[in-house]
Amino acid sequence: MRKNILAPSILAADFNHLQQDIQQTVEAGAEYLHIDVMDGMFVPSISFGMPVIQSIRKTTDCFFDVHLMIEQPERYIEEFVKCGADSVTVHAEATKHLHRVMQQIKACGVKAGVALNPSTPLSVLDYVLEETDMILLMTVNPGFGGQKYIPQMTGKIRTLRQKLIERGLETDIQVDGGVNADTIREVLGAGANICVAGSAVFGTQTAEKTREFVKIMNEYTAYE
Ligand code: DX5
Ligand code: ZN
Repeated sequence: MRKNILAPSILAADFNHLQQDIQQTVEAGAEYLHIDVMDGMFVPSISFGMPVIQSIRKTTDCFFDVHLMIEQPERYIEEFVKCGADSVTVHAEATKHLHRVMQQIKACGVKAGVALNPSTPLSVLDYVLEETDMILLMTVNPGFGGQKYIPQMTGKIRTLRQKLIERGLETDIQVDGGVNADTIREVLGAGANICVAGSAVFGTQTAEKTREFVKIMNEYTAYE
């Protein structure tokens, strides 16, 4: 049975006390840490890179779910794995050779994910599904935390889950952007099983908010 997992995005944490923020959410039940890497090219903003990942790796055993919002991610896969990534997700829009990059990630011994921007059709996945452990559907345009969930993405999640069931695949569907107390049930109901949440988790009362989301997620039976 597939599991529902909360993946708090550290982009919304306070970098003055990143370790405490991470510890609070992990101890409260977050199983993944979502790590957003931005290059100022694929997306307008620049976030952080290898040194930050390497130093937080020393503080926790939590699963590191690295979301690369960078052009030509194939240049850096091995390095991110060395820094401690447990999964690496690349954008289909950022590489000319998606199938090859998925093989490259798998060859490093970690899980491989593909991310799609809101406007990218699901059909780009047709020939890479067998290589893919997780599909990340962006539910906002990537680049910034704290944006509003795009409602049309609910239908996209549902269609993708249906497609996976028809092909007999157990692939995880991760949703990223605008997931909060008002939208989390909608994405779970549509078939997502890994929820990224940044601004809805970090800030104040991180532990309480984590527990609340984990509780909601446990109310939904994950798709098989
Ligand atoms: C956006 C990032 C997200 C972001 C989510 O480009 O990929 O992971 O941190 O932030 P919220 O949950 O605040 O929308
Ligand atoms: Zn992300």
